[in-house]
Amino acid sequence: MAENNLEQTMNGKAIYMRLLGYVKPYWKAFALSLIGMVIVASTEVGFAALIKPMLDGTFVDRDPDYKILVPLALIGIFILRGIGSFSVAYCMAWVARHVIKDLRTEMFAQLLKLPTPYYDRNPSGKLIAKMLYDVEMVSEASSRAITVIVQDSLTLIGLLCWMFYLNWQLSLLFLTVGPILSLMVVYVNKRIRQISRRLQASVGDITHVAQETVEGQRVVKIFGGEEYENSRFLEANQKNRQQNMKVVVTQATSVPVVQLVAAVLLACIIYLASPGSTDGAGVNSVGAFMSFITAVLMLFAPLKRLTTVNAVLQRGIVGAESIFGLLDHESERDKGTLSLKKIQGQICYEDVSFSYDDLTYKEEKGDVLANITLEINAGETVAFVGRSGSGKTTMVSLLPRFYSVDRGCIKIDGHDIESIKLTSLRSHIALVSQDITLFNDTIAHNIAYGGMVGASLEDIKAAAKAAFALEFIEALPNGFDTMVGEKGMMLSGGQRQRLAIARAILKDSPILILDEATSALDSESEKYIQAALEMLMKNRTTLVIAHRLSTIESADKIVVMDEGKIVETGTHEALMEKQGHYAALHNIQFGEE
Ligand SMILES: Nc1ncnc2c1ncn2[C@@H]1O[C@H](COP(=O)(O)OP(=O)(O)O)[C@@H](O)[C@H]1O
Ligand SMILES: [Mg+2]
Repeated sequence: MAENNLEQTMNGKAIYMRLLGYVKPYWKAFALSLIGMVIVASTEVGFAALIKPMLDGTFVDRDPDYKILVPLALIGIFILRGIGSFSVAYCMAWVARHVIKDLRTEMFAQLLKLPTPYYDRNPSGKLIAKMLYDVEMVSEASSRAITVIVQDSLTLIGLLCWMFYLNWQLSLLFLTVGPILSLMVVYVNKRIRQISRRLQASVGDITHVAQETVEGQRVVKIFGGEEYENSRFLEANQKNRQQNMKVVVTQATSVPVVQLVAAVLLACIIYLASPGSTDGAGVNSVGAFMSFITAVLMLFAPLKRLTTVNAVLQRGIVGAESIFGLLDHESERDKGTLSLKKIQGQICYEDVSFSYDDLTYKEEKGDVLANITLEINAGETVAFVGRSGSGKTTMVSLLPRFYSVDRGCIKIDGHDIESIKLTSLRSHIALVSQDITLFNDTIAHNIAYGGMVGASLEDIKAAAKAAFALEFIEALPNGFDTMVGEKGMMLSGGQRQRLAIARAILKDSPILILDEATSALDSESEKYIQAALEMLMKNRTTLVIAHRLSTIESADKIVVMDEGKIVETGTHEALMEKQGHYAALHNIQFGEE
């Protein structure tokens, strides 16, 4: 996929520079934490340096001043160190939490702008994992890793300077072995980054499977999908464990190996630095010797952290790649500039062809919609019938530009819909579809959703009444203030559908799309709703898809679709007379009568 290529060409440095851009607004806190790091690093070096006067001054020279000064200096160093490390921890966390918040805000805004095909391709679990897990990982990189890198590098440099000051020959020896250590670290980096990428994907898989099972638990139960889901989960879970272990193995082997090399180095230094060693490379006093050894020993901790921090750092880069991949994804195309205040609702499909991005499908079956031409007058009710999969839903999905046509064009009131601003276009269309979407909020807020927020309770009531929903709503304990639960779980399918219809009634837009809007209703409620819908259809252009043919007999025009083509159009009577596709469908449904 193009998205992957894009991600891979962004190298780690570019990604960090971009992340740093998010830190920019908080540069003051960031600078404070950097100052804290400098303080902490200098106290480390200060401590190593203090060893020299401590031993030479107190034990060797027995100077009474040193007896007081050295302990005081020790306390001073640790007070400074405490202040420094607090400001590092606090400021870093402050910056990181802000960056997390900003990233999430930006990602969410991006989610609202992504085109429908992106959602078709990416399971919701994956997207949610990006928002939660990936962002946290990035925060770890942008705080802990930076702390370690800056503070420990400074400590490292400071200690090395002190060592050079004490004895440059020994320090040079130390430096020649150093690069070997860093080469090892570079290798480990690469490996961990590779594994992290796979780890990332496996976490997405786990969320994805778990989420589907949780959300579809009823289907799983009734169709005995337990074994299938279990094996799917097991596989994802197992893969995740393996990837995690690979990270652990890489880390667990790299650390001791690096340390062993360092220990050998230390051994050599001790041997060479001891007084009486060859070439007189030894240091000139007990204090200097101990201070040198202390500095070497103190180098190990930052060195070790610098090697292990790579796991976090690399994971952060992988997380950031995934986040930026989402942020950089093209938003819904909106080249339209027309902003229409009012429309008549005349719709025209002109030689429209369309297929989903799914290439295999395209090759096997050709376009999902092929050369559709259809004219709908303002205020007309047009019904679409045809077998499932014949392209009815696709046909009406093109109108609010959930997808863009491949060839041909669709016009509303003579304007190509591509030339109309998306928000303007969609403001004139109401939609009730097969799968009802309700939000975990009150009934009133679900009816007066989005642009209709602020509608008066009277209007909401009127809409509910017209949708034959008022009766059941008023019977609920809190009436319009009743929470509907996640996805409206507290309501029956028919009740949910009536709320969706009420929402569409309240929107009162010139174009109405009903995609099997009454499929979840029993025949009796459907009869009522039918009356309500007919009222609703009166002064607007309505595209209705219904599998119960009785509900569409009064439509101004019936369009019969098959395999992405229009095979018949006409009124009920005309089509029945013709004895074609429609009559055949009709006879199957009403054959007995
Ligand atoms: N989001 C999608 N991505 C890829 N293919 C799709 C998508 N939605 C529908 N299709 C395919 O397009 C064809 C038409 O589907 P649809 O318009 O939903 O039919 P209908 O509403 O008439 O039952 C079907 O073959 C279906 O498999
Ligand atoms: Mg459909």
